[in-house]
Amino acid sequence: MSAKPTIYLKDYTPPSFLIDTISLRFELDETATRVKSQLQVRRNPQAAVTRQLQLHGHESVELCEIKLNGAHLAADAYQREAEFLTLLDVPESFELEIETCINPEANTALEGLYLSDGMYCTQCEAEGFRRITFYPDRPDVMSVFTTTLVADASRFPVLLGNGNPVQRGELDDGRHWVTWVDPFPKPAYLFALVAGDLQCLEDQFTTCSGRQVTLQIYAEAKDLEKLDHAMTALKNAMRWDEEVYGREYDLDIYMIVAVDFFNMGAMENKGLNIFNTACVLAHPRTTTDAGFQRVESVVAHEYFHNWSGNRVTCRDWFQLSLKEGFTVFRDQCFSADMHSAVVQRVDEVGILRTAQFAEDAGPMAHPVRPASFIEISNFYTLTVYEKGAAVVRMLHTLLGADVFRKGADLYFERHDGQAVTTDDFVQAMADVSGRDLTQFKRWYSQAGTPRLKVSDHYDAASQRYQLNVQQSCPATPEAQQKLPFHLPLSVGLLRADGSSFVLKDGKTTQLLELTEAEQTFVFDSIDEAPLPSLLRDFSAPVKLVYGYTDEQLAFLLSHDEDGFNRWDAGQQLSLRLVNRLIADYQQGKPLSLPDTFVATWQSVLQQAPQDPAMAALLLTLPSEAYISETAEQIDPLAIHHVRHFMRCALAEQLESSWLELCRQHDSQSGYTASAADMARRSLRNLCLSYLMVLESPAHLALAQQQFETADNMTDQFAALISVAHSGFRDSADELLAEFLSQWQHESLVMNQWLMVQATDPREGGLARVQQLLEHPVYDARNPNKIRSLIGAFCQQNAVNFHAQDGSGYRFLADHILQLDAQNPQIAARLLTPLTRWRRYAADRQALMQAQLQRIMDKGQLSGDVYEVVSKSLC
Ligand code: PHE
Ligand code: ZN
Repeated sequence: MSAKPTIYLKDYTPPSFLIDTISLRFELDETATRVKSQLQVRRNPQAAVTRQLQLHGHESVELCEIKLNGAHLAADAYQREAEFLTLLDVPESFELEIETCINPEANTALEGLYLSDGMYCTQCEAEGFRRITFYPDRPDVMSVFTTTLVADASRFPVLLGNGNPVQRGELDDGRHWVTWVDPFPKPAYLFALVAGDLQCLEDQFTTCSGRQVTLQIYAEAKDLEKLDHAMTALKNAMRWDEEVYGREYDLDIYMIVAVDFFNMGAMENKGLNIFNTACVLAHPRTTTDAGFQRVESVVAHEYFHNWSGNRVTCRDWFQLSLKEGFTVFRDQCFSADMHSAVVQRVDEVGILRTAQFAEDAGPMAHPVRPASFIEISNFYTLTVYEKGAAVVRMLHTLLGADVFRKGADLYFERHDGQAVTTDDFVQAMADVSGRDLTQFKRWYSQAGTPRLKVSDHYDAASQRYQLNVQQSCPATPEAQQKLPFHLPLSVGLLRADGSSFVLKDGKTTQLLELTEAEQTFVFDSIDEAPLPSLLRDFSAPVKLVYGYTDEQLAFLLSHDEDGFNRWDAGQQLSLRLVNRLIADYQQGKPLSLPDTFVATWQSVLQQAPQDPAMAALLLTLPSEAYISETAEQIDPLAIHHVRHFMRCALAEQLESSWLELCRQHDSQSGYTASAADMARRSLRNLCLSYLMVLESPAHLALAQQQFETADNMTDQFAALISVAHSGFRDSADELLAEFLSQWQHESLVMNQWLMVQATDPREGGLARVQQLLEHPVYDARNPNKIRSLIGAFCQQNAVNFHAQDGSGYRFLADHILQLDAQNPQIAARLLTPLTRWRRYAADRQALMQAQLQRIMDKGQLSGDVYEVVSKSLC
């Protein structure tokens, strides 16, 4: 049983002591790094008076020496407990010197100071700094950091810290040192250092006020050629933040370092971002278009944190969405401006509506601002990030772009240099708009996905159209009853000819504001019965129900001026058919596709060349994950079978169209990373994937040829996956072997190679994964490898993971038990699919529950795994 207590937001109190400056000296050593820290401490005038100073410190940190105002502290002047060091009687202000010893090599949790492929790096968010030294490790304690790094000069020529380098020198013993000063006070979670044998790509950026900033992206020498895309993204992001938010960069240097061992995507440490290689390295030969886009958005995300996160930070970790929700919203808008706004919106809603809605419906559901937690690492969730972004987007929609910008300006101006709350953020928006946003704040305190039930009535005689909207929200662990939300509902009304009515203010989209449990909206001068287009651009993170007929959905699909709703009409139309076919399948009836459905697809195929990006979206059936999320009860086998059947039937009945489109969108003039070219590749590869389900040798030859001749990873990988998941087993094995020998020295490409096999839905999936665990390219300590193999199998291979004999569940539990001692954060994250056990039929429920119980019974779990398992079982 875990001894870790639950922490509550309501218990927040300000820190008793403040740290004005901290000076750190690291003597780097693989197994015994010495850390000297010198703190200027003073009592917080804002807090209750106490003579006890409590510092956080992980049990792995060895205390070597402690001095107060230059004098050694007697052993009875302090207490060392598992998580704390408490000084029992301290003056009002003083200097504290602490020397600790830590072991980076033994650090497999990848929090604090650790080694990634022989280079030193740190990860301090959320509570990693306490694994380095004793310190008030909470975000509302902000200090000016000076860091000196000392290390062997030949093995670690590059020594990086936050801020600007101010001094360097050599020691007689072959070591060298560098001192860095970061003038901006910051919480400890933004501290970082790096030491290694690294190369860098360097560029310059001139800010809007004319200051020169040096930009450096560091990686191992072999990866130097993969840094151009991240550099371009960084410069674009810097310009965008100046133009859209008026925010200028504030130091003379901005550094990014790529590391191979990293628990998350990337980290916004002040002036020294540390990135998972998967989120910064990109080259056309080794990176897919999806990879390119991920790099661009993560680079932008971390850059935007410099204002939304670093200059204005969080008061406590319950406020995590203050920086994450806002920053995700900012990076989403950036991506929309760089590429197609509709494609970007479809992608982000896809994540929200499948994965976040599923989280909101499960045992780990929590509000955007959680009220309690055991382990904060478990709350870096889709709810805090993606739903948090959706909440900020609703403010943007309700207030309008101009007022929202004024609100952001006020927020940054008012709180620059402070650690604040989501209430402070909303207050700035309320103050500039003059609006009362009290009810809106329920989005931060109530969990769960609201339901909107919409009905309508048209009266021809009075030319009056009425929309009735009822909202409700299901119970979640923190609350049974929910109060109504304040939300923007964007609607349009379509005429029979497909055009949109002109509504309020001469616009074709009108914003309805919902605040009541039930509300009716009236539209006058509507001279024909309209078809409503509801929740345009997905204006709120809700589930909307309206009784469309299939014909009406098909009409919206071809006519709605709102690109997102056009796409969604297609998805809903497909989803209905999926559900009918699932029922047929479960009753043992033969499956068939209605002609009208095929005709709809035929017409989308015909218009595809006009907008390949949109076509690629429209011609993709709802994912297994989305079908599962919307299902009453999840039947993984039926879902997989039906979706596969539909793909086969569409491929067969429209074969010549797929083939024609595939040929038309061939790459003629070589690779470029332009949006147009990416759209062309995505449409072509989608066509190829349909053709490959037909199992015809001619199409196989097409895929094989693409595999051999592709000059970029997008096309090569698409060909690989289409063959690898096909019935051509020998060809699949051949291509996988060829891909391995071609790319075995490219770690990130090998992640993809593992992933293709882990997600292969054909029989025998678990055995294949188990074999791959022994493969030399696999590394059981590297989170990217674990995610690509174990994570991908459990989350993206439903038919195999949910095997009736429970083997998939047992496999996952085995690995969680093994991983928990090594890397609790990764272990807890891998648990997600098991937490969803209530969504399945009784037999699967029992098997999944049994594995959760088995983990629980093991005892001595990390707080991370304990929290997820215990909440899932209750
Ligand atoms: N703060 C990082 C981001 O979202 C994510 C992160 C959290 C990274 C915790 C590492 C550890 O930009
Ligand atoms: Zn972030």
